[in-house]
Amino acid sequence: MKVGVFDSGIGGLTVVKSLLQHRLFEEIIYFGDTARVPYGIKDKTTIIRYAIEAVEFFKNFELDLIIVACNTVSAHALTEMREVSSCPVIGVVEAGILATANAIKDKNSNILILGTKATINSKAYETGLKAKGFNNLQAKATGLFVPIVEEEIYSGEILEATFRHYFSDIAKPDAIILGCTHFPLISDAIQNYFGKETILIHSGDAIVQQLEIDFKFNTKYEKTKLEFFASENPESLKAIGKKWLNI
Ligand code: DGL
Repeated sequence: MKVGVFDSGIGGLTVVKSLLQHRLFEEIIYFGDTARVPYGIKDKTTIIRYAIEAVEFFKNFELDLIIVACNTVSAHALTEMREVSSCPVIGVVEAGILATANAIKDKNSNILILGTKATINSKAYETGLKAKGFNNLQAKATGLFVPIVEEEIYSGEILEATFRHYFSDIAKPDAIILGCTHFPLISDAIQNYFGKETILIHSGDAIVQQLEIDFKFNTKYEKTKLEFFASENPESLKAIGKKWLNI
């Protein structure tokens, strides 16, 4: 099985980490659109155009599947990607909704959705969760976390101040959807802020769950070959990838 993993930049490596841990693929082709990141502040038309170009890029490889690790693209451009792709395309938003429904049994639970401006404005998570019966939802665009994580700040004063800025009017949630590739990297700090009872939904784990439970992916490969591609400075992406993934 050969999979293409697409993200606007380096954040999708958090999804690759889960895929590697579960050994679901023989080969992973990672493409980060580092020249044009961030997508989260762009409009739908631009996000769709970039996403279609990513599908074109992946046509250079004979892929069995494309995983859209980027929440912003998953929220806005999945249909358009599927129209032009010759292999199936799945995204983290759908997977995150399924994972939330699996993890949270009480439909009145308060669920906080975090994401980029574009993801939150799309209401993709809210629509999907409401369709599953959840109606106690809060959503907050927390785009500042993206550059903070890129600066490799995972704890401390700056992060705490950003939490206060975003979360002071937020009611304590039962669950939080980390609806952006970068947020799993600050999941410990988010967990500390809200307390350990709050359940965190992570895109990478959600995709693994969808592949294993819904798509019955049960072959475990001994080794996964991983190749990195980027629209700008691929060497830097490769170096960060190796560090993040500990390979
Ligand atoms: N990868 C994006 C996401 O998951 C975050 C970074 C960006 O804004 O492009 O929404």
